[in-house]
Amino acid sequence: MKVLVVGGGAREHAIAWKLSTSPLVDALFVAPGNAGTAAVAENLPVRDTDLDGLVRSAKELNVDVTFVGPEVPLAMGIVDRFTEEDLRIFGPTAAAARIESSKVFAKELMIRHGIPTGRAEVFDSYQDADRFVRKLSPPLVVKADGLAAGKGVTVARTQDEALTALRECMVEGVFGEAGERVLVEEWLTGLEVSVFAFVAGEVLSPLAAACDYKRAHDGDRGPNTGGMGVYSPPEYWNDALEREIRESIMLPVVRAMAEEGCPFSGVLYGGLMLTEDGPKVIEFNCRMGDPEAQVLMARLRTDLAEIVLATLDGMLSETPIEWSDDACVGVVLASGGYPGSYVTGFPIAGLSEAAEFGEVFHAGTKASDRSGAETVTAGGRVLTVVSSGGSLADARQRAYGGAAKVSFDGAFYRTDIAAIHKSEEGA
Ligand code: AMP
Ligand code: GLY
Repeated sequence: MKVLVVGGGAREHAIAWKLSTSPLVDALFVAPGNAGTAAVAENLPVRDTDLDGLVRSAKELNVDVTFVGPEVPLAMGIVDRFTEEDLRIFGPTAAAARIESSKVFAKELMIRHGIPTGRAEVFDSYQDADRFVRKLSPPLVVKADGLAAGKGVTVARTQDEALTALRECMVEGVFGEAGERVLVEEWLTGLEVSVFAFVAGEVLSPLAAACDYKRAHDGDRGPNTGGMGVYSPPEYWNDALEREIRESIMLPVVRAMAEEGCPFSGVLYGGLMLTEDGPKVIEFNCRMGDPEAQVLMARLRTDLAEIVLATLDGMLSETPIEWSDDACVGVVLASGGYPGSYVTGFPIAGLSEAAEFGEVFHAGTKASDRSGAETVTAGGRVLTVVSSGGSLADARQRAYGGAAKVSFDGAFYRTDIAAIHKSEEGA
């Protein structure tokens, strides 16, 4: 079959790489892709938010099934749009994607269905929110309702920080419409873990778990980013914990969505805190994580194309899904200045040397305009080096061995991925 992957990050490179190994896939396209996806698929010059362009390409190229990587096209309704056009597509509808695109929707759904999560109040009036925050003792968490590219959450250690976050959202409008409503949420403590499942309505695959690192610099300092590194599985992950999370959180939420008329299909991502009172939901996302997808795809033993078809054909419960027991570590290399402003267009050296240590999944890269032979930087997060090993320490050593081979002007990466645990990070 012919498959189209929508997106252009390292997550989509990992998804395309995995699909490219499937005997079911004989043509693979990525829109818009990057220099890495060009090696395993044909890149299409169509933005991932250009739904008309994507529909047109899928029809022209006789694509059999489309796989959507990022949340923005999902929230825009790409699945609804493709379905109206009789095109098969893997991912949730816009109504189901609200589990990520509206934190208020997700919180209210969890409360209605008794799914464990932090206590929270919703505000659409700045004055009311301000008054509420002044009565609370920090730390507390201020969240913009809508999608804000991972920047809409402030974990406020002081009342001033919380009040500033409220003002930025609701008065200054730094997140636009996404910040018109806010949640003021209880601060949760414990180990933070991301869990993933393939979902078809009320059917849920076995869970896979990973830990990601959001802060830019070592010791969990610096600004929040899209994710600077990841490892999987967490050292404490076991069958009992999986069962608990499945039964108290993941199954109830997909059942709740089906019951409320917006059944979920695709990959559901639970961002959880393992608190003293058990696992609680921080947030849900309606897609694989980035950089989590890079290690999940490396650990997935089952054919991804087969899983996609099983999900769409109502056969997910009959499809065994296997994850390798290997430990897997991903280290992200970023452009100097990221997540603030940065310069791109620098040649990247050492890619083939790095590939001897594992998989190198590209994000902000492209073939240079001049020769086309050289790969140059084209974004903030440039690539993820992913390595597996019999132990976390082995995988970590290999991933850093690979990362050390890559160089470009201003490149930086965290040196403590999979060394300090998430719980040791300052919130
Ligand atoms: P998000 O953008 O929702 O993933 O949030 C970013 C990060 O903020 C999460 O990964 C957590 O580390 C932290 N966070 C969000 N909500 C809470 C909470 N209620 N308590 C503690 N930390 C939180
Ligand atoms: N790694 C966090 C995310 O993909 O949202």
